[in-house]
Amino acid sequence: MPVTIQPAKPLIGGIVEVDKAHLCDDEVVEAVRLSLEERGVLVFPRLGLTDQEQLAFTDRLGERVNFTRSVPGSDASAPDVYKVTLNKKINTEPDYVLGTFFWHIDGVTLDIALPKATLLSARTLSQSGGATEFANLFAAYEKLPDEEKREIEGLRAIHSLEASIRPVYGHPSEERRQRWQSMAPPMEHPLVWTHADGRKSLMVGTHADTIVGMPGAHGRALLWRLQQWAAQPDFVYRHQWQVGDLVLWNNEGLMHRVIPYSDEGRAMHRTSIAGHERPGRVASEEALSATLQPTA
Ligand SMILES: [Fe+2]
Repeated sequence: MPVTIQPAKPLIGGIVEVDKAHLCDDEVVEAVRLSLEERGVLVFPRLGLTDQEQLAFTDRLGERVNFTRSVPGSDASAPDVYKVTLNKKINTEPDYVLGTFFWHIDGVTLDIALPKATLLSARTLSQSGGATEFANLFAAYEKLPDEEKREIEGLRAIHSLEASIRPVYGHPSEERRQRWQSMAPPMEHPLVWTHADGRKSLMVGTHADTIVGMPGAHGRALLWRLQQWAAQPDFVYRHQWQVGDLVLWNNEGLMHRVIPYSDEGRAMHRTSIAGHERPGRVASEEALSATLQPTA
């Protein structure tokens, strides 16, 4: 067998040893797919893929998608490879990259099937910061006390681009707020996502703004508590990057964030695999107005 996969931590993470020449072999692809479901995030240390090799591996795992093609500032010359960097020569609007300092699920504020998985490879590193953390939202749900599972059963949350990027700006101008709304209308998602295979995961992250039908403060307090719960060390794997590392994660059941960095040297190349499940929908006016009152 040209591949071995060892657990990184009991509840999350796997370290993959494979010769790059065998990466796209059937048995390797199958082992990686199975392990991805079980471990959530897989690390391929110092694999050193080119963009073409990364795309070829992405294609072997599923159907490629670039869900941020419409994000302002992204590099149009490589439409299927998104470059995560603060370098303004490559990404002319890095504010969206600053949003990745906060816990999030990729694509959750867009009206698309949620991206199934994401691949990120390290091309150049920052001098400080820049580690990426992944939190297992399946395990976070599973380990909740039964009473809390009952409390959140059937609840729905509003997720928005504005909420995900608000921490970058603090107090955004009205013009910016309207721009974000026009780029991506707020989405309504179940707080507990029951996947097609029956597994359940929490849908939390900075983009989760309010709970439908709950006063704003109550909803946010619940969302923050659940996010903190999901981010506790047992559920989290932190990856300290080396040049050439490839990391692949199950975006449907994990949230992730990067430890802040500020130099423009760091560059990660991202490719993504399309998903087939749509847990949510564009939020209705009714759902939005049901969460507006600060108290009730
Ligand atoms: Fe991300």
